[in-house]
Amino acid sequence: MSDRYLSFVNSPWGRRVAQAAGLPQPVPLLRHRSGQAALVNPVIVAGAGRLVEQVQRLFTATDTVAATPATLKAPSTVKVQGAVFDATGVVDVQQLDALYAFFHANARRLGPQSRVVVLGTAPEHCQAAPQSIAQRALEGLVRSLAKELHRAITVQLIYVAPGAEDALDSSLRFFLSRRSAYVSGQVVRLEKPVDGQVAVDWNAPFAGRRALVTGASRGIGLAIAQVLARDGAHVVCVDVPQARDALQQAASSVGGAALTLDITAADAAASLQDHISQHGAFDVVVHNAGITRDKTIAKMSEDAWRSVLAVNLQAPLQLSQALLDHQGVNPGGRIICVSSISGIAGNLGQSNYATSKAGVIGLVQALAPQAAAQQVTVNAVAPGFIETRMTAKIPLMIREAGRRMNSLSQGGQPIDVAETIAWLAHPASGGVNGQVVRVCGQSLLGA
Ligand SMILES: NC(=O)c1ccc[n+]([C@@H]2O[C@H](COP(=O)([O-])OP(=O)(O)OC[C@H]3O[C@@H](n4cnc5c(N)ncnc54)[C@H](O)[C@@H]3O)[C@@H](O)[C@H]2O)c1
Repeated sequence: MSDRYLSFVNSPWGRRVAQAAGLPQPVPLLRHRSGQAALVNPVIVAGAGRLVEQVQRLFTATDTVAATPATLKAPSTVKVQGAVFDATGVVDVQQLDALYAFFHANARRLGPQSRVVVLGTAPEHCQAAPQSIAQRALEGLVRSLAKELHRAITVQLIYVAPGAEDALDSSLRFFLSRRSAYVSGQVVRLEKPVDGQVAVDWNAPFAGRRALVTGASRGIGLAIAQVLARDGAHVVCVDVPQARDALQQAASSVGGAALTLDITAADAAASLQDHISQHGAFDVVVHNAGITRDKTIAKMSEDAWRSVLAVNLQAPLQLSQALLDHQGVNPGGRIICVSSISGIAGNLGQSNYATSKAGVIGLVQALAPQAAAQQVTVNAVAPGFIETRMTAKIPLMIREAGRRMNSLSQGGQPIDVAETIAWLAHPASGGVNGQVVRVCGQSLLGA
């Protein structure tokens, strides 16, 4: 769906009107395109921790177009496209001053749409209280920078567990690229990979891998299928029998296969198992199918309650459990659910939907340790306002508020969710497990 206000404020006249009236001024986000450099460039790498070398190595090893980090101590007038601050060496509150000094000196050097990443050690992995307090404090800094740097600059915090240093590359490649355009203010924890170190072809990471995407005939599901296929996967697209034609079209457009299946059907798990016995287990499973039946609870029918919980929560749970119980996901595999910021913040008229999406977060947290024993990760994305048919149904004024109430002052696109899922699904992302990553432009809801 088109965002007319975004086009308006980016016209010469609209810009003047918005400035004069103090209205939000979103800028069209730059998103990754094939053939583009993998990472933004140049990037300042600063700080004194155990990860600086890892970060530097990433830039020299980048395969598509070489990136050149500039490690600068003094302020300069040269604009950069990103900054990485390694704060793993910060062991007490006083040492947080180094972050003030760095961002104070360099904030204005960050060009529009820059990517900023702060690296830390999660408080639970710190040995002493002063270190754990200082590391926890990084969250406040990162979330504030994400709100105040404007110009579509995104800022994230990655906590890297001791021993997980080598697992950093896939996350840095995502957060320092145009793929993460609509992800900001996020805190991600990296642990030792559940599946050890794997050799990766960064240009076609899913080559030879099989992916299953539910609700793939349109919207976010179609974008997920397209991105996974773009990166080499054979994608099995699932949708309800009523969507058969669109599903066939979607599957053939990505060179994949169509599987008509109502994921709430009593025999859905058995049908999937049949498919697996014929074609093999999956490496990536994305539970994307979802529905809304909005009403305040007093007006909500029992059917509206039950159907939303059945599609959005019970089906992903039953299918995931069946897949894990019967080796339907290969070692090194990934299960990714689609939650929602409604599941984090709650939403008026969405008690059924928010319950189901909060339950999805519970699913991720409950299944992640069990799946890890099979070298499989379980994570979720929680999209905010994404421009699809689902959000087109929202009444105009509420829709407009939903679009603007985030640090980027605009809705995201299905591709933003898809790129985030591709990062979580990546063979080198085995260190990300049990996490919920918001794709919401740092929405104010549930922040
Ligand atoms: N659009 C947003 O802003 C937004 C925000 C947060 C979360 N989400 C979530 O993202 C996911 C995709 O949303 P979308 O906006 O693309 O929705 P959409 O309505 O465009 O697509 C959902 C797809 O799921 C399919 N589906 C529904 N019930 C099914 C069933 N029982 N079995 C198999 N397939 C079924 C539908 O046929 C459809 O193709 C959903 O889980 C949704 O809750 C969307």
